[in-house]
Amino acid sequence: MSIDNFRPQFHFTAAREWINDPNGLVFFEGEYHLFYQTNPFGEQWGHMSWGHAVSRDLLNWEILPIAIAEDSRVSIFSGSVVVDTHNTSGLGDGVSPPLIAIYTGCLRRNEGGQAQEIASSRDRGRTWVKYAGNPVLDLGLRDFRDPKVFWHEETARWVMLVALPHDGKLVFYASADLKSWHHLSDFHAGKTGEGILECPDIFMLPLENEAPIWVLKIDVLEGHPSKGSGARVFFGHFDGTQFTETRADAWVWADYGADFYAAISWANLPIADAVWIGWMNCHRYAKHTPTSPWRGAMGIARTLRVRRHGEKFQLLQAPVAAVETLREQVFVTPAWSLDDDECNLIPSGTDARTLDLTLTCTHTTARECGVMVRVGEGCETRVGYDAMRGVVFVDRSRAGFSPEDPHYKARREAPCPAPSRVAPLRLRVLVDVCSLEVFVGDGEVVLTEQIFPDAGSNGVKLYARGGVSDFGESAVWVLRDANRTMD
Ligand code: FRU
Repeated sequence: MSIDNFRPQFHFTAAREWINDPNGLVFFEGEYHLFYQTNPFGEQWGHMSWGHAVSRDLLNWEILPIAIAEDSRVSIFSGSVVVDTHNTSGLGDGVSPPLIAIYTGCLRRNEGGQAQEIASSRDRGRTWVKYAGNPVLDLGLRDFRDPKVFWHEETARWVMLVALPHDGKLVFYASADLKSWHHLSDFHAGKTGEGILECPDIFMLPLENEAPIWVLKIDVLEGHPSKGSGARVFFGHFDGTQFTETRADAWVWADYGADFYAAISWANLPIADAVWIGWMNCHRYAKHTPTSPWRGAMGIARTLRVRRHGEKFQLLQAPVAAVETLREQVFVTPAWSLDDDECNLIPSGTDARTLDLTLTCTHTTARECGVMVRVGEGCETRVGYDAMRGVVFVDRSRAGFSPEDPHYKARREAPCPAPSRVAPLRLRVLVDVCSLEVFVGDGEVVLTEQIFPDAGSNGVKLYARGGVSDFGESAVWVLRDANRTMD
C-alpha cells in the first residue's frame, strides 16, 4: 500500500504528525482558528503541543507553525481560547484585544500533575507568550484538565468549566482577570462504569421557535454504545454559577459512531452560527490506524441547533454548508424499489473515495435496507435501517483493514422509527477516503466511523435484504479535494 494512501481530502489532517483533540477554537477577525493536540515529532501521541491552522470557511485550512509548544516543565494539553476584549488580563497591548489560551499544563515527570495555565497572543494567534505566573489554577492533582473558558455577560466575569476526570464531575470557577480563579459549583456528569471524563464544553444553542438554550457536553472514555468513547450532551440552564439540567434524563449522545471524540465549539460567534468539530478517532485503537506520515483527522465541522419534543431535546447537527461547494459530478437515481436485491448508484470506474450522498427510504418490509459504500472485492461498508431492531446502523465489519481491537468491527446503531411515506428515512452520508459520517433526518442522529478499504473499492450500491424496500430519488456527488496548504 502506498504511503499516504488514506489521507482524507476534505477533512483536516496535519501534514506529517499525530493529532488528537481540537483546542482553542475561536473565530477572530474573519478567521476560524483550529488549534489541536499534536506531537510535532512524530506519528504517535507524545510531546503534546498546540498545532495551529486557520480557515475562512471551516473547510479549506492553512496550517501554521506550532502555536504553543511543550517545554522542559510541561506538555500543553487541551483547553480553550478567548478574546479578551476589555484586556482584563492586562496581557494585551492596549490597542487591540489579545487572545488568551487557557490550557492544561501537564508536568513532565513520572508522577504527572495537571494544572491550568495561560498564554497570550497579540498578533491574531500567530505567536504566543506563556504567562510568567503559571499555573493559574493548581489543586495539586494528578488529573485535572481541559478547561473551557467563556465570558458570562450577566455576571461580567470569566467562567471556567474543567474536568476532574476520575471523580465523575466537572467544576465551575470564576475569574475577573483570567489569572486568579475561585470555585463556583460542581456538576456531576458521570455514570458508574463510564470511565474518565474529558474535554467539557458549555455554550448556548438556538432552540427552534424558542429562546436559546444552554448545552453542556462531556466526553466519556468508556460507556458509549460503541463500547468505547463518546460525548454526552445535557440541556439546561447556566445561571452564572451553576448548570441545572431541564430534566435529569434528557441528555443525548452527540454521535453514535465509534470515532467522534473531544468535540468543542467555536468561541466568539453569534449563537445562531454555532459550530463545532471533533476528533474523528478513538483512543483505544488510534495508534494502530494504518496511516502515514500523518495520524488522526478531525470530523467535518458541524453546525448545531436544538429541537424540542415535549420535555425531550434533540441536538441537530449538519455538515457546514461549504462542503456543498466541493460537489463536482452527480449521479441521480430515480425512485426505485428493490426486492431482496441491490443496484449500482454510480457507474463502475468512478473514483468514489470522496462522496456526499443523499438517500430516502419511504417504505420497507425488508429485514435490512440501505446503501453500501466503498464496495470492492470482499469489501463493503453498510449504512442502513434494520427493521427487526428498529435502528439505523453503520457496519464496518467488512470495510477493509481493521486495527487490532476487540470492538472495532462491531455494528453501531441508533434508534430510528420505521420509514413511511409521511416520515421517510433520510440519510446523508459523507465519505472521505478513510471515514464516513452519517447524518440521519435533520441530523438528530449522527454516526461517525473510520474505514480503511482498498483504494480500488469504489462501488456504491442501494440494497434491500429479506423483503421489499421503496427508495426515493437518491443523489451521489463525487467531491473534489479541499485545498489544504501543507507547511
Ligand atoms: C482527550 C485528552 C485530554 C487531554 C489530551 C491530551 O483526548 O486525553 O483529556 O487534555 O487528550 O492529549
